[in-house]
Amino acid sequence: MTLVEGHKQIAPDTAVPVWDTDPYDLEVLVDPYDWWADLRAKGDVVYIPRYSALMVGRYETTKKVFSDHENFLSSRGVGLDDFALSKPWRPPSIILEVDPPDHTKTRKVMSRAMSPKVAKALGEDFRQTADALVDEILEKGEIEAVVEFAEAFPTTVFPKAVGMTIVNKRHLVDYGAMVFNSIGPDNELRKDATTRVPEVARWIMEACDRSRLTDDGMGALLFEAADAGDITAEEASLLVRSFLSAGVDTTVTGIGNALWCLANNPAEWEALKADPSLTRPAFEEVLRYTSPVHTFCRTSGRDTEISGIPVEEGTKVICSLGSANMDPEKWGDPENFRVARKPVGHLAFGVGIHGCVGQNIARAELDAVLGALIAKVDRIEWTGDPVWRPNNAIHALDRLPLRFIAK
Ligand code: HEM
Repeated sequence: MTLVEGHKQIAPDTAVPVWDTDPYDLEVLVDPYDWWADLRAKGDVVYIPRYSALMVGRYETTKKVFSDHENFLSSRGVGLDDFALSKPWRPPSIILEVDPPDHTKTRKVMSRAMSPKVAKALGEDFRQTADALVDEILEKGEIEAVVEFAEAFPTTVFPKAVGMTIVNKRHLVDYGAMVFNSIGPDNELRKDATTRVPEVARWIMEACDRSRLTDDGMGALLFEAADAGDITAEEASLLVRSFLSAGVDTTVTGIGNALWCLANNPAEWEALKADPSLTRPAFEEVLRYTSPVHTFCRTSGRDTEISGIPVEEGTKVICSLGSANMDPEKWGDPENFRVARKPVGHLAFGVGIHGCVGQNIARAELDAVLGALIAKVDRIEWTGDPVWRPNNAIHALDRLPLRFIAK
């Protein structure tokens, strides 16, 4: 069998539009909005010859494929590699990269460890940390907000929430970026990421060991589930690893993207300050508008169809969450960032059985950060141009030169 990027080469149905393009081109990754519009214009599903894969980007189709775990599997990898045919670069995640019934067991344990009650209890520490960080930023005035704000907050609160006793902030941020780059094609981004894997992955596994965790964090809750016989101790360690791969870089990106949206839309910032009850909807709008996780894949586990078009077993389907979140058919005026939109049904946290299990924590972090900004900051202004950082799955900023002016 011929493999392309670690998955089966397919012969797509003749009814599928063919688009000779590269979804992982660096220029597309740093500025995807026009490319997403072209993707949606091509049809419900397109064939990308470069990767011998199908791709979806209209809202309804993307939602359908992404949530149809019976036909479109996660266990064969959420990147381009098909784990049934090629060896994954790390042992697969036992929550993200599994299907039911294996998924049902680990999902239950993770949902308990990150329940609304747990998120609420963490809220006080999140608020204190956000207040102190915003005070610090106001003292400095001008900052590079990716490092000094977006990375600084989650790398302070999240290891504490997990109960980590050894913390390497750089490794925590880089590990997420590596994991997300590794689910793309074998391009420069993935090559760069994998050269650093041995050093960072060794540190991550050591940091996830029970002996390195306190007995009162989210990590301890996973080991309690192991003690109760719900999962094994080894599985508990792997789930702590999932906290670290999925829970740091994503929220760093969420905070950076929120600052970018607010600095670019001063009238929306004024509206948010005037009505702090919009804090939560404003974050949902940031997620819809910028899709921190822009692209994940599924693999058809059997012969099936998308919008009536036959799809053969073993087909990789690249799902553009970012494009779906900008589909005018769903959102009317997607190009306008509006804090009061309340974009119910956005796909930034995924949808279906794999929908983000950490979303309570992410929302609690952003409540704290936006709450502190609203309370203390009058204006957020650019001091230079923002720069986006290409990543095969994450839509994140590399540089945010900003000035914060106190109330
Ligand atoms: C802005 C922040 C975040 C975004 C945009 C985000 C996005 C996503 C998306 C799109 C998925 C679905 C993946 C799929 O269906 O293949 C997902 C799943 C997941 N997320 Fe998040 N996430 C965020 C924060 C977090 C946090 C803070 C944690 C951990 C504390 C976390 C842990 C997970 C895990 C473990 C899964 C796998 C769930 C499953 O497969 O059942 N995420 N996330």
